[in-house]
Amino acid sequence: MVLLPDTEYTIEKAIRRAAEAFERHQLHYGHGTDSSIHEASWLILFGMGLSPAIAPDYSQKLSLAQVTACDVLLNRRIDERIPAAYLTGQVWFAGHPFLSDERALIPRSPLAEFIGEDFLGFLDGIENPRILDLCTGGGCIGIACAYARTDAEVDASDLSADALELAAENVQLHGMTDRVTLLEGSLFEPISQRYSLIISNPPYVDAADIASMPSEFSHEPLMGLEAGKDGLDLVRLMLRDAADYLEPEGVLVVEVGNSGKALEAAYPLVEFGWLEFAHGGHGVFILTKEELLAAAVS
Ligand SMILES: C[S@@+](CC[C@H](N)C(=O)[O-])C[C@H]1O[C@@H](n2cnc3c(N)ncnc32)[C@H](O)[C@@H]1O
Repeated sequence: MVLLPDTEYTIEKAIRRAAEAFERHQLHYGHGTDSSIHEASWLILFGMGLSPAIAPDYSQKLSLAQVTACDVLLNRRIDERIPAAYLTGQVWFAGHPFLSDERALIPRSPLAEFIGEDFLGFLDGIENPRILDLCTGGGCIGIACAYARTDAEVDASDLSADALELAAENVQLHGMTDRVTLLEGSLFEPISQRYSLIISNPPYVDAADIASMPSEFSHEPLMGLEAGKDGLDLVRLMLRDAADYLEPEGVLVVEVGNSGKALEAAYPLVEFGWLEFAHGGHGVFILTKEELLAAAVS
C-alpha cells in the first residue's frame, strides 16, 4: 500500500508519497515520463479522474474513493512494473494525446521534436508532400506528421497487425482516416509510391541491451524493440532499399538510438547527418536520396 486510506491527502502530498515509493522501489522511467515525480503526477491525476495534461490545484484534497483508485494504480506500477502509459491507456506525443496499450510500443521518440521543428525545413517548398512513417506502431509519428503538414498525404506501415489495430484507433481518434493510410507488411513490402520524407523509429535494440533491459520493457512487444546482434537488422534493409521509394528531393530520417555507433562502424563511407535535440534523445540520422545513392549501400 502506497497511500493510506484517509482523506488527508492533497494532490501534492499524494504525488510526493507516490514518488518516494517509486524511488524506494527503483522503478525505471523513460516510457513517456523522465522522473519519479513526473510518473507519480501522471498516475495520481489519472486515478483522480483529472486530465494529466492540465495543471491541477495541488492543494485540492483527494476523496477516499480517489485515494483507493490511485493506490491500485501505484501498486500495479510498483509490483508489476507496468509503465504509466499502459496503466492509463494514454500517452502524449508531439503535443497530441494517443491511445496506448500493449499492442504497440509506448511512443517516446525524439522524432517528435524534428516534426515540431517543421521537419527542419526539409519539406519547405514541397506542396502536398507524401510522407511514409515506416514501422508506425500505434501511429503516433504518422499522425503527428499529418498535423504538422496539413497538406501532406501520409502512409504508415507496420508488420504487426496488433500495432496497426491500435494505429487505426488513433487515426480514428484524430479524425484522420482520409489523410493517414495504414499498410501492413514488412518494411517496403506493402509500399508502391515514392515519398518526400520517409521517417522511421524502427526496432533497433541490440542483443546486449535486450538482455539487460529493465522490467518495464517486458510489457512492450519484443518485435518493437529487438533488431539482431548489433541492432541494425532493419536499418540495413532500409539503407539498401529506401532510395527506391524516395522522390528525387526526398530524405530518409531514422532513429537508431544507442545503435548509432554500430551503424557508423558498419558503414564507414556513409556521411550520416546526426540530428541534435533540445529536449533529449539521440541517435537519429538523416540522409538525402542523393546521399543514399552515392553511398550505394547494397
Ligand atoms: C520501436 S517500435 C516504434 C513504433 C512507433 N514508430 C513509435 O515511435 O512509437 C518499432 C515498430 O516496428 C515494427 N516492426 C518490426 N519489424 C518490422 C518489419 N519487418 N517491418 C515493419 N515494421 C516492423 C514493430 O511492430 C513496431 O511497431
